[in-house]
Amino acid sequence: LKIATGKSHAKIILLGEHAVVYNEPAIALPLPDLNMLVTVTKRDFGQIILAENYQGPLSEMTEAFEGIRQLINRLLKFFKMPNLAFSLKIQSTIPLERGMGSSAATAVAIVRAFFALFETPLSNLELQRWANVEESITHGSPSGIDAATAAHDVPVWFMKGNLPEPIAMDLDATLIIADTGVHGQTGLAVSVVREQLQNDPIETQNHLTALGDLSRAARNFLAKNSADKLGPIMTTAQEHLDAIGVSHPYLNNLINAALEAGALGAKLTGGGVGGAMLALADNHADIEAIIAALEKAGAREIWVQKYQVKRG
Ligand code: PMV
Repeated sequence: LKIATGKSHAKIILLGEHAVVYNEPAIALPLPDLNMLVTVTKRDFGQIILAENYQGPLSEMTEAFEGIRQLINRLLKFFKMPNLAFSLKIQSTIPLERGMGSSAATAVAIVRAFFALFETPLSNLELQRWANVEESITHGSPSGIDAATAAHDVPVWFMKGNLPEPIAMDLDATLIIADTGVHGQTGLAVSVVREQLQNDPIETQNHLTALGDLSRAARNFLAKNSADKLGPIMTTAQEHLDAIGVSHPYLNNLINAALEAGALGAKLTGGGVGGAMLALADNHADIEAIIAALEKAGAREIWVQKYQVKRG
């Protein structure tokens, strides 16, 4: 082919962040409204990248894009076309560095685009391995949850060291995601928990186990359209996350504002210590009121993902 495309979308951790580093399960949900399109076009010469944050030759990409550069070089080698002349355009509505897996989504869309260009079938497992090439360079995420979940377009159940398991979701509800504006630092947050575990092993382990139990309970409610039960699980998870030291006053503000405005539940998502929170609301709730409350409480940016199951 002369031109091919690959798509992917954002994901968000519903439950289980941090506990997943200690072998408890986590649940990640796709955010299909925040997506990415990669277009590869063969050209006569050059290897050109056209992204919002970088336009230029592949070989001159700076360190921040090292994962992408190496991924593309590995793909070209795999297809035995290391000098293929192409342009690769990345169009994305996924916010960067907000715990929505934008780098893993980029990797997935690039891999899909090249496999399409070379008209080669690609299994989910292969896709995940390829995405990991980029993620291990860009993130070094302790659990590997981002690369594992990005290859799936459905909710996944993830345990460290295992393949992610697609799980059933029958949920009519809306997720409202709000950014504190404080740069979340996943690496720092992970080390906060590690220290807590050393200083106060019994108490900290209890919180991590409780977080795992909440993921296990949530799985059932997710499959049974029980947003009213899922919400309180999220809020309880937030209490445990706060207790292990990964929340932040700005996160707590937004979480309280969402709950007061009628959300069924709310918690931080991803690494914490800043970053983003998410609230769950009934589709018939006053979503605008929750958004207004979050704005008033200082949310820097807000994204809304509505889930609606078609019933036949
Ligand atoms: O901030 P994110 O979306 O990269 O998620 C981090 C999740 C943690 O559990 C805190 C760390 C990990 O590697 O799983």
